[in-house]
Amino acid sequence: MNIVFATGNKNKIKEIKNLMPKTIKILSLKDIGCNQEIKETGSTISENAIIKSNYIKTNYGYDCFSDDTGLEVDELDGKPGVFSARYAGKYSNSAKNIQLVLKNMKSINDRSAQFRTCISLCHGNENYLFEGIVKGTITSKPKGNMGFGYDSIFKPNLSNKTFAEYTLSEKNKISHRSIALKKLINHLIKVNL
Ligand code: IMP
Repeated sequence: MNIVFATGNKNKIKEIKNLMPKTIKILSLKDIGCNQEIKETGSTISENAIIKSNYIKTNYGYDCFSDDTGLEVDELDGKPGVFSARYAGKYSNSAKNIQLVLKNMKSINDRSAQFRTCISLCHGNENYLFEGIVKGTITSKPKGNMGFGYDSIFKPNLSNKTFAEYTLSEKNKISHRSIALKKLINHLIKVNL
């Protein structure tokens, strides 16, 4: 079966292709001729995931899933959260976002945080939502050079290294996205898509 993964993020496609059973073929936005950026105008992580999958289903007709992820820091009232991609401004990048998180946490002792992924699936006329959460702490400085985004400042609980010190397959075993994705895969297998 073919299903579109509505993301332009090559890292995510790589992570997800590693986890999907070979019977499920992932199509990218490029594969279906969609080159436009889908605006993330939702006020929550789940709303953004729903906006993206609905856009593809409505405009291109494909069954589709999309994910949205955010880093939620307890003492920053859940921020960056839905603003994770643009925390340091509209034209921000991961290095600037990380710098701002660390600056805003300079005098904070409780460094608890979590990654939350929401996956929205549009299958036929049905919509489904799957969630994955990994709890951890924010380090005082970046460490490691694998992964992407906020990985270098996030240490999962019971681990002595940041996500950026995990190989892709190690990260895939425990990550927020893989937890949500396993729920999606179980669903797809159950409905025999
Ligand atoms: P989005 O889900 O692609 O919109 O990502 C929102 C923000 O969270 C971006 O800045 C990403 O770099 C970051 N992000 C998403 N997934 C991860 C992850 O697995 N690790 C670290 N950062 C992530």
